[in-house]
Amino acid sequence: MKQATTISPIWGGRFVDVIEEAVGRINSSIDFDRRLWREDIIGSKAHVEMLVAQRIITEEDGYLIAKALEEIAMEIDSGAFKFLHSLEDIHLNIEHRLHEKIGDAAGRLHTARSRNDQIALDMKLWIRGVVDLLDDELKELQIVLIERADQYAETIMPGFTHLQPAQPITFGHHLMAYVEMFGRDRTRLADARRRMNENPLGAAALAGTQFPIDRHMTSAILGFDRPSANSIDAVSDRDFVMEVLACAGICAVHLSRLAEELIIWTTSQFSFVHLSDSLTTGSSIMPQKKNPDGAELVKGKTGRIVSAFTIIAIVLKGMPLSYGKDMQEDKEPCFDAIDNLRLCITCITSIVRTLQANQESMRKAVFTSFITATDLADWLVRETKMPFRNAHYIVGQVVRAAEERCCGLADLPLDLLRKIHHAFDEQIYKILSVDVSLNARTSYGGTAPVRVREQIVEARKRFLNEDCLKF
Ligand code: ARG
Repeated sequence: MKQATTISPIWGGRFVDVIEEAVGRINSSIDFDRRLWREDIIGSKAHVEMLVAQRIITEEDGYLIAKALEEIAMEIDSGAFKFLHSLEDIHLNIEHRLHEKIGDAAGRLHTARSRNDQIALDMKLWIRGVVDLLDDELKELQIVLIERADQYAETIMPGFTHLQPAQPITFGHHLMAYVEMFGRDRTRLADARRRMNENPLGAAALAGTQFPIDRHMTSAILGFDRPSANSIDAVSDRDFVMEVLACAGICAVHLSRLAEELIIWTTSQFSFVHLSDSLTTGSSIMPQKKNPDGAELVKGKTGRIVSAFTIIAIVLKGMPLSYGKDMQEDKEPCFDAIDNLRLCITCITSIVRTLQANQESMRKAVFTSFITATDLADWLVRETKMPFRNAHYIVGQVVRAAEERCCGLADLPLDLLRKIHHAFDEQIYKILSVDVSLNARTSYGGTAPVRVREQIVEARKRFLNEDCLKF
C-alpha cells in the first residue's frame, strides 16, 4: 500500500489507497478552473453571510472565514497563491488555504453546501459576467459600424447576390446590415441572461439540505432574480453554458461573414477597401503583399467557437441527473470559445474603425456591370403595365445586346432598343443612371441614402441608448 499521506485531506476520510497518477491527472481541473477564483470567493462569501444570518454558524467563525477569503483573493490576484494539482480544483485549493489560515473554522464554510452547487454557481456567475462584457463589446462594434455607415451613407457600390453584381447599393447601407446582425446577437445574449439568472446555491449535492438556509438571501446578495426552483435541476443544469455558446457561435458566424467580405474587398481585383498597415501583415517572400491576416483568423476561429456548443451538448446528452464529473469538461471549450470570440470582436472593431473605402473603385465596379437592368424592367412594368416576367425577358435581350457590343446598357442606341421593344424611349437613359436607381429605392429599409440615414437614426435609438436591450 502506498503512503496514505497524499490522500485528499478534504474528502479522504473513507480512502485507504492513494489515487493512481493518471486518474489524478484526469481528475484535476485546477489548470483551467483556477480562473473561476473570483466567482468561487464571491459565492463563498455570500454563503457564509447567510450561514451566520441563519445562525447555522457563529458570527466569530463567519467573520474569520470572510476575512480569510478576502486575503486569499488578494493572494491569488497578486500571484502569490500556490495552486496544487493534488487539490484537484479551485474549490478545494481555496478551502485548503482557508484551513491553513484559520484552522478548524474553515471546515464550517462547506456546511449546507456541496461542490456540485458550488461549481454550478461559479460557472453561472462567470457566464453571466461574460454576457455583460460581450454586450459592451458588441455595442462598441455597433457604434463603430454606425459611424462608418454614416460617413459612407451616399457611397455607391455594387450590391451582390451569389457574389455577382446585382443592384447598386450604398456602402453605408451594407455596413448597417451588420449593425442589425450584431444587434440580434445582443438580444439573444440578453434573453439567455434573463433565463439563466436563477441561483443554484443551496441545492447542495442534489437534494437540498436539512440546515435552515435562506436561498432568497444568497440570491439577493449575488444578484439573482430568484433561487432555482428544483435542487436536482440546479446542479444538473448547464443550459446556460450551451445557450451562451450557441449565441457565441452565431455571433462568430456574423463576424466571419464580415471578415470574408473584408478579405474579398481588399483584393486587388476588387480594391473596394483599404486596411490600415497596422492591421495587416507582410509576406516573407513577396514584397508587394499586404495580407489581411487579422480578418482571416477571425474567419478561421469560427470553427472552434461554433464547435464549443457541440462539445458541451455531447458531454451532457448522455448524463443521468444530477451532477456527474463529465460536466467538468464544459470549461475548456467554454473558456476557449469565449476568449476567442472576444478577441475576434476586438479585431473586427479595429478593422472597421480604420478601414478606408476606395469610393472610386466601388463606383467603377457599379458602371462595369449591368447593374440597373432591374430598374429598366421595373420601368417597362410601370409604363406598359406588362407583367414583370415579360419585362424581365425583354430586358434580358437588352443585356445580351450590350454584352455583344461590349458596352453598358446606357450606351445602346435607342433605335436598337426599340427593335427589342417599341415602348423604349429617351426616358430610359435616365432610368439607367446608377444614381437615379439608387435614390429611387426608397422602400422602408431600402438603399436610398435618405432611407439609410433614417436607419442610422433608428439604430442609434434601438441599440445605443442606455439600457435599451435590457430585458
Ligand atoms: N471540478 C468540478 C467540476 O468542474 C467541480 C465539482 C466537483 N464535484 C464533485 N462532487 N466532485 O465540475
